[in-house]
Amino acid sequence: MIRELLPESPSVFWAGCPKVALEEVVAYICFRIVGTEFYLLNIAVKEGFRHRGLGYWLLLSAIDFGLKRGIKEAVLDVHRENHNAIGFYQALGFRFADPKEKNKKIFRVMEMKFP
Ligand SMILES: CC(C)(COP(=O)(O)OP(=O)(O)OC[C@H]1O[C@@H](n2cnc3c(N)ncnc32)[C@H](O)[C@@H]1OP(=O)(O)O)[C@@H](O)C(=O)NCCC(=O)NCCS
Repeated sequence: MIRELLPESPSVFWAGCPKVALEEVVAYICFRIVGTEFYLLNIAVKEGFRHRGLGYWLLLSAIDFGLKRGIKEAVLDVHRENHNAIGFYQALGFRFADPKEKNKKIFRVMEMKFP
C-alpha cells in the first residue's frame, strides 16, 4: 500500500514507528527536492498519535535535510478545506503563496522561503 503512495522517483519517504511496535507505521512524510525547491508530497500522522509533535518533528527534519542540500524554499499544496493541516503548516511558518486565490481553487499553494 505504501508503494502505491510513492510518486515517481526521485523522492524521499520516511516512516515513523513507535519504539514498542517497530512494524507499525504511525506517521510518514514524502517529499522531493528539485534544485533549490523542497516539495512536500504528503505528510500524515495516524489518529491517536496526533498533537504530540510528530508531524512537526517529521516536517522540520525533512526541511533540515533539504537545507543541508541547498534548498531556498519549501512548497506544498493543501486542500482549501483542510483547516487542520493549514493551521499546522501556518504554525510551522508556511504562508499562502497567493492570498488572493482564496476560494478560487480546490488546492492552495503554501510556501516558506529561506534566506
Ligand atoms: C496535519 C498533521 C500531519 C499534523 O500532525 P501532528 O503530529 O498532529 O502535528 P503536531 O503535533 O506536530 O503539531 C505541531 C504544531 O502544529 C500546530 N498545529 C497542529 N495542528 C493544528 C491545528 N489543527 N490548528 C492549528 N495549529 C495546529 C500546533 O502549533 C502544534 O503544536 P502544539 O500541539 O504544541 O500546539 C496531522 O493532523 C494529519 O495527519 N492530518 C491528516 C493528514 C493530512 O491532512 N495531511 C496533510 C496533507 S496536505
